[in-house]
Amino acid sequence: MWLEHIEIENIRSLNNFNIDFSPKLNIILGENGSGKTSILESIHLLSLGKSFRPGKETNLINSFSDYFRVVGIISDNEKKVSIQTSRNALEKRIKLNNKVLKSRASLIGIFPTVVFSPDTLDIISGGKAPRLAFFNRIFCTVDPDYMDTLIQLEKILIQKKQLLKNNQINQIDYWNQLFAEKSQKIWKKRHKLWTEFSEEFEGTWNLVFPEKKASIGYSYFKEISINKITEKLNKIKEQEALYGKVLFGPQKDEFIFYYNNILLKEFGSQGEKKFFHYILKLVEGGFIKKKLGKTPVLLLDDLFAKIDSVRIEKMLNSMFDKFQMFITSTDIHKDGIKSWISTDTKLINI
Ligand SMILES: Nc1ncnc2c1ncn2[C@@H]1O[C@H](COP(=O)(O)OP(=O)(O)OP(=O)(O)O)[C@@H](O)[C@H]1O
Ligand SMILES: [Mg+2]
Repeated sequence: MWLEHIEIENIRSLNNFNIDFSPKLNIILGENGSGKTSILESIHLLSLGKSFRPGKETNLINSFSDYFRVVGIISDNEKKVSIQTSRNALEKRIKLNNKVLKSRASLIGIFPTVVFSPDTLDIISGGKAPRLAFFNRIFCTVDPDYMDTLIQLEKILIQKKQLLKNNQINQIDYWNQLFAEKSQKIWKKRHKLWTEFSEEFEGTWNLVFPEKKASIGYSYFKEISINKITEKLNKIKEQEALYGKVLFGPQKDEFIFYYNNILLKEFGSQGEKKFFHYILKLVEGGFIKKKLGKTPVLLLDDLFAKIDSVRIEKMLNSMFDKFQMFITSTDIHKDGIKSWISTDTKLINI
């Protein structure tokens, strides 16, 4: 699938920006602060109903305005859909074909995108939470049942936290039973999806960079039966009551990235981290395509700094025909991308 057209109103410095895109390569060209990343953020607002940059969502609203609105036309060659995301100071609204959606979750999987940006580097360099969020988002995109179960598990977790905080221990067994059932389902699915993802990752890595090894580890509660989970929950019940905290469950899982058999986060150089990050994103694109049957759009922001152009070209060559891509650049000569421009390429000067 691909984004045919976008209308952007009042996203950061972009007051009124309307444009048609190429189904293949789109290069967004402009100096620092011209609004390149804001265009990618706008596309992401259509995909997930939120930006990929940290910060309050109202920060996106142009400082001289009191609302933003983004509309996109997405095509998959058979049919077209329109998505609109807008917000003012008070409320956010997402519309699919002009009908208001109840929640952001209803948007997941309709127009998938994969973002590579310095703002998503916390997957590599941050704590365990962004890595878990990264895999949860991919698994929710490709498996609606995983998403439903995760939403239910999060609701149970909120209840359990509340009970522990208020010292209402007599009701814990009831919630622990529900927690065990949902946890088992999440662990089973997460383990299966991680196995598939990490195999794809290693396959892709070996193709582009066989000189070094890289892999993705997953640490979780390995005895995935409702009885074993309940047993463990019973065992730690008093401890949880004592600390007033939830101490066990899939929300504590950890994904670990290894480069050359050592921890990437601790030992990797900036370029190595960026390269790993990039391969991870390519695999995310291929994985979503394979599992969901829809081709995601790639949003590649600030790709060039710190990765040598030979390696970039090697990585990107295989992608040109498969995905619609958006790449930002401050200088096509310096970034070595002039040779990529063909009749299929749209050059967007902003
Ligand atoms: N709420 C806002 N209202 C008005 N302008 C804003 C707002 N938020 C950010 N800006 C400005 O919008 C401009 C565009 O930012 P953006 O990050 O899209 O630029 P960029 O082209 O990606 O730059 P770089 O090459 O440095 O990455 C910046 O000058 C920024 O200061
Ligand atoms: Mg930018």
